[in-house]
Amino acid sequence: MKDPIKAIEDTSSERGETKRPRHIAIIMDGNGRWAQTRGLPRIEGHRRGVETVRMISETASELKIDAITLYCLSSENWKRPETELQFLMHLLEQYMVEERRTIMDQGLRLKTIGRRDRLPENVLQAMDKTLAMSANNPGTQLVLAIDYGGRDEITHVARQLAREVAQGSLSESDISEDLINNRLYTAGLPDVDLMIRTGGDMRVSNFLLWQLSYSELWITDKCWPEFTREQFLGAIDDFAMRQRRFGGLNVNE
Ligand code: IPE
Ligand code: IPE
Ligand code: MG
Repeated sequence: MKDPIKAIEDTSSERGETKRPRHIAIIMDGNGRWAQTRGLPRIEGHRRGVETVRMISETASELKIDAITLYCLSSENWKRPETELQFLMHLLEQYMVEERRTIMDQGLRLKTIGRRDRLPENVLQAMDKTLAMSANNPGTQLVLAIDYGGRDEITHVARQLAREVAQGSLSESDISEDLINNRLYTAGLPDVDLMIRTGGDMRVSNFLLWQLSYSELWITDKCWPEFTREQFLGAIDDFAMRQRRFGGLNVNE
């Protein structure tokens, strides 16, 4: 059987252009439902979800995708029961320690986006160590959205710009889309080309509100713990077939 990664490369080169997404963002949803339909506690779904994270990071790295952003915890997820939150914090700390080896072996460059002030100290310490260790890695940027909310991010930028205008270091006419882009948590990353959501819900759930403006959306009913490499490659294949118009007309029409 033909190697699917090779197949994606061939399709790109036949067209004489790269139709491979540079930045893929994923809403990793359905952990709880996956567990509950199997008679397991919800946290078991989160634990299994980490294995999918590993597989996705490895595949993205093999494909030389520039950046992959994974929604790990939303700013609204604090509404969850204390026990589930404690487990998620434990899992985050464990991930930051145990995945260090894989992150380094794959040459992944870790980045986090979201608020830091509500995360426990032990999670921050483990996270900062992995961030520092991987900072000069040449490979795919692995961006973890932790205590992240799109509205929170935009509010944060608005406050920062208002402060600078009030202080006189910025004038109102300097505020452009590019400037805002450069102040978002995702500054420096390419636009999100493809957004994948598992778990079947057709919504954005406060993820990357600004950055998803012209992303291609790809949603599957499969839950995150059962999401496979083949499906991931299938989503990338589908992306290559999409016609993106960005509000204009097709080039050949
Ligand atoms: C996504 O899975 C992971 C987090 C939000 C932390 P869920 O926990 O939302 O799983 P479902 O949607 O309830 O099945
Ligand atoms: C989105 O999933 C957040 C993450 C995957 C981290 P949710 O389960 O929180 O989304 P809603 O509540 O169904 O919109
Ligand atoms: Mg959910």
